Amino acid sequence: MIPSVLPTYSRAPLHFVKGEGTWLVEEDGRRFLDLGSGIAVNALGHANPALVAALTEQAGKLWHVSNLYEIPQQQALADKLVDATFADTVFFTNSGTEACELAVKMARKYWYDKGQPEKTDILTFSGSFHGRSSAGIAAAGSEKMVKGFGPLLPGFVHLPFGDNDALLAAITDTVGAILIEPVQGEGGIRPLPDSTLRWMRDLCDERGILLILDEVQCGMGRTGKLFAHEWAGIEPDIMMVAKGIGGGFPLGAVLATEDAASGMTPGTHGSTYGGNPLGCAVGNAVMDHVADPAFLAEVNRKAGLLRQKLEGLIAAHPETFEEVRGMGLMLGLKTRQAPADFVKKGYDALVITVPAADNIVRLLPPLNITDDEIAEATARLDAAATALETA
Ligand SMILES: Cc1ncc(COP(=O)(O)O)c(C=O)c1O
Repeated sequence: MIPSVLPTYSRAPLHFVKGEGTWLVEEDGRRFLDLGSGIAVNALGHANPALVAALTEQAGKLWHVSNLYEIPQQQALADKLVDATFADTVFFTNSGTEACELAVKMARKYWYDKGQPEKTDILTFSGSFHGRSSAGIAAAGSEKMVKGFGPLLPGFVHLPFGDNDALLAAITDTVGAILIEPVQGEGGIRPLPDSTLRWMRDLCDERGILLILDEVQCGMGRTGKLFAHEWAGIEPDIMMVAKGIGGGFPLGAVLATEDAASGMTPGTHGSTYGGNPLGCAVGNAVMDHVADPAFLAEVNRKAGLLRQKLEGLIAAHPETFEEVRGMGLMLGLKTRQAPADFVKKGYDALVITVPAADNIVRLLPPLNITDDEIAEATARLDAAATALETA
């Protein structure tokens, strides 16, 4: 008999009942160190007092009105994002997938309105992940995601990740955009070199192509800058954001320049919930913390500390680990076994990690993890590796 919850997930047998900062408490009382943050979502940890206050204060006043009316919390958050980034305008969604939907629509409408409606193709890359909607799976294109779900949304050209020659060869008069994650998350923590991102920006400018960055996983302070592309010193035309921006409340956004967004006139897009007062109250509190340069400086310091400890872990466990890679607090341990095996041993050692493609165990802790928690996390990862080696 089919379970009452549609069985699309394979879940670990863990039942968390409470979260406190970097800690998750299981029903049976065990305390886990959370290096997963609900897949890069709880940017400020669990039950952060500032976010709890923002949410509960708003919950006592007004939850939802729809976008038929003005929403001051939404306006305030849009202003903060515009002030802090390349963007001139923001549309709020409830998830990263919905951000992908709009990014694709926005790019196509741009070229349509510019009198070049043939420029519908979007170049994407192997190992990418942009969500599970029809546009999201068509964009990523991996067999695992698309098999059985055709006919797929047309207009995506899939290229090998890191092959600049293939990218150059794929540029034709029908290409309207490049869609890429500055650091692939699900694909196995694969950062794009800064020089490649700069080269892509130049290429887009020369050839009349929009650059869409998917910063759903790598954005909102995760790499030590507010957005990952800032390390390369470039600006996209359109950017997808979600996960960390809501700190655990479902919230996403598409940020764009005035020019890139010029086709999105009244009536061309909408969402019942997107940008509602509850989500934006939390989003404002998240932005107030994460966009603070002092907070980002701490993320970078802690990232250095964690990375140093992980290098030591790798040296102590060459049988288990090959390398550590990534940026900021978006790190991947490349394992010699199936990453899921290590993740399970982690559960026994009371530390939460997340598997990804390319034999990667992801470490995506809350951005405000403490130095003591980093030391404790390393000890628990060490215990998990030892347990795997002696199994
Ligand atoms: C880079 C990237 N884009 C898009 C998505 C989809 O976001 P959501 O699951 O919020 O729809 C994800 C989710 O993991 C992601 O990592």
